[in-house]
Amino acid sequence: MDAGAVARFPVGIVEAVTADVTTQPTGIVVLISGSGTNLQALIDATADAAYGVRILAVGADRAGISGLHKAAAAGIPTFVVRVEDHETRADWDVALAERIADHEPAFVVSAGFMKILGPRVLAEHVVLNTHPALLPAFPGAHAVRDALAAGATVTGCTVHVVDAGVDTGPVIAQSTVEVRPGDTEDTLHERIKAVEHPLLVTIVGRAAREGITVTDGKVSIP
Ligand code: GRF
Repeated sequence: MDAGAVARFPVGIVEAVTADVTTQPTGIVVLISGSGTNLQALIDATADAAYGVRILAVGADRAGISGLHKAAAAGIPTFVVRVEDHETRADWDVALAERIADHEPAFVVSAGFMKILGPRVLAEHVVLNTHPALLPAFPGAHAVRDALAAGATVTGCTVHVVDAGVDTGPVIAQSTVEVRPGDTEDTLHERIKAVEHPLLVTIVGRAAREGITVTDGKVSIP
């Protein structure tokens, strides 16, 4: 297998991303749906060549979001693939997989991408996701609100490999955040993002420089 290439095996059996440790940065595509603060953290990290990552493109499921402006400001190509522009969800899945593949990334980072990725994307690409809760607690689109509603006293964030379920893929790393009395969804989410950004930067960098292997639902970065 070429250095930097992805072995395209079904998730859960053996899946590996190998890194070219010689000279070339590892190319990734980042998917977003919103403000793109996690994306910005990755962009900032790539300023150091030793980080070993190049963001080849940023994809979104909607236009006009500030994350796309952040990508453009950094000179990174962008693309938008909207569900509503496709007849079926399956068509959208194929289109998104193809737009990602155009850039030949070693792997994909879902950083606040608020759509469930389809089988075609997951068959063709290894995808890491960042989630604002300590999975398996509080999966889904309202993780911060759900943690508050449940009265959790500790929550946090998780970087994991995406599988076919909703936030069910193998966990790579987590950081904790204390829930404070009087926290709102916004204040808590801001404190989560403060630990989420460095965690995502660390894990994406390690995956890019060292590679990732997923075997029988267990993930390892050497
Ligand atoms: C992050 O907290 C991410 O975990 C969640 O949505 C948020 C996106 O924030 N899914 P941003 O767009 O990176 O600012």
